[in-house]
Amino acid sequence: MTVNFRPMQVADKELFKSFIRSLPRKDNFYLMVNVHSDQAMDSWMEKIQSGETIGVIATKGGDMIGYGNVKINDLPWTRHVGEIRMSVSPPYRGRGVGKALAEQLFSIARARGLQKIWARMAISQDAAQHMLMKLGFRTEAVLSGFVKNENGLTDDLVIMSYDSGEHWSF
Ligand SMILES: CC(C)(COP(=O)(O)OP(=O)(O)OC[C@H]1O[C@@H](n2cnc3c(N)ncnc32)[C@H](O)[C@@H]1OP(=O)(O)O)[C@@H](O)C(=O)NCCC(=O)NCCS
Repeated sequence: MTVNFRPMQVADKELFKSFIRSLPRKDNFYLMVNVHSDQAMDSWMEKIQSGETIGVIATKGGDMIGYGNVKINDLPWTRHVGEIRMSVSPPYRGRGVGKALAEQLFSIARARGLQKIWARMAISQDAAQHMLMKLGFRTEAVLSGFVKNENGLTDDLVIMSYDSGEHWSF
């Protein structure tokens, strides 16, 4: 399977909107925005433009099949840290796309001088935890009952991180 990876750009807005809106509701439930709000999607793309969010997209043929973001900021006390989020279209899962997206993001993060990448997810998002473990992340914390899932049931929040120290392994 030939999959291409490239940085997400503002010109990808419509492609990205259709892709993310096509994902299962569960996959978007834990995002920080409502993907069905045009305003929220505009704001997302503004952050891509400003560099506050680093994005990579995966395409196959002309179709988008996955994306990954790292959110950063320039505050003096957290500028070395970035938060990662990603999703792969269900038919393409389990074929290495998520891992490749993460590796692309890490290489951009490393070039930007980030030292630590973290991710937060509901404990039920087990594929994400498996993938991040395989990439060298470790579980930093499990916050009991911090999440309501898409069915309104309480779940635990897992925080995982990858610390490059001085040397990235990606
Ligand atoms: C998490 C997600 C992005 C993984 O994408 P993917 O393309 O299926 O992942 P990959 O095929 O690259 O797998 C990467 C590694 O994780 C492992 N993995 C992936 N899904 C797994 C699962 N359900 N159970 C166990 N291991 C799994 C793979 O075996 C692989 O390890 P390997 O390289 O040693 O074989 C995808 O499942 C997804 O989009 N989930 C919904 C959204 C989500 O949870 N996002 C994460 C929020 S941070």
